[in-house]
Amino acid sequence: ELERALAGADALIVRSETPVTADLLSRAPRLRVIARAGTGVDTIDVQAATRRGIAVMNAPGANTVSAAEHALGLLLALVRRIPWASDAMRRGEWDRKRFEGTELRGKTMGVVGLGRIGGHVAQLARAFGMHVLAHDPYLAPERAAELQVKLVPLDELLRTADVVTLHVALTEQTRHLINAGRLTLMKRSAVLINTARGELVDERALAEAIGAGRIAGAAIDVFAVEPLPADSPLRTLDRVILTPHLAASTAEAQERVATEICTAVR
Ligand code: MLT
Repeated sequence: ELERALAGADALIVRSETPVTADLLSRAPRLRVIARAGTGVDTIDVQAATRRGIAVMNAPGANTVSAAEHALGLLLALVRRIPWASDAMRRGEWDRKRFEGTELRGKTMGVVGLGRIGGHVAQLARAFGMHVLAHDPYLAPERAAELQVKLVPLDELLRTADVVTLHVALTEQTRHLINAGRLTLMKRSAVLINTARGELVDERALAEAIGAGRIAGAAIDVFAVEPLPADSPLRTLDRVILTPHLAASTAEAQERVATEICTAVR
């Protein structure tokens, strides 16, 4: 259907589910602009578009708050064991011992990528009384100081943080940024939150690390393959919360994204 519609289209607006490949572009002879109704343009072959003189744009700030709030929501759900307690209640149980959690106050959050979303996550974490470290090789030290965040090398962040949360774009440099080796640097009590892109994490290595108790858990919204395959090892692990790429799915973010991207395209 999309291929048919593209034959006469001047503009194409997509979310993360539609890969815009060179092949798809070859079916769009009139195309002048591709717009991503969201932040990442990693699903778009920007080089192929550029060769054809087609502009590529995104709505970079529109879902910042929603994405950051989802990361914090996942973190709270994980450390207070909310999904498991809720499931037990639905099964008719009343168990106040099994679901003891941990507080966030006084713990250290490590934010990987201190851009718009990472910066907002850092502010929310500070409101919970957390210490915040960040790794971001592109960030001006003044911005880190403004956010009251200490910039550190990635390995130091992984060794020190109680919570590691990812907020970087997917590029050749960041693919499998969190791999088996890096997971061994994390504390056994630490948790990993990923609301950025699935391929930032080696999912198999993550499942092994959690299964072996090398880290305490994870909450994940994004996956290397979406929808996440039914037989993914992540689906069967205790101490893992999974959501289906929902971080930007709020009424407010969707309205903002739609308005921003349509204005830009026009
Ligand atoms: C984004 O890159 O902004 C998100 O992945 C948005 C989406 O849900 O498509």
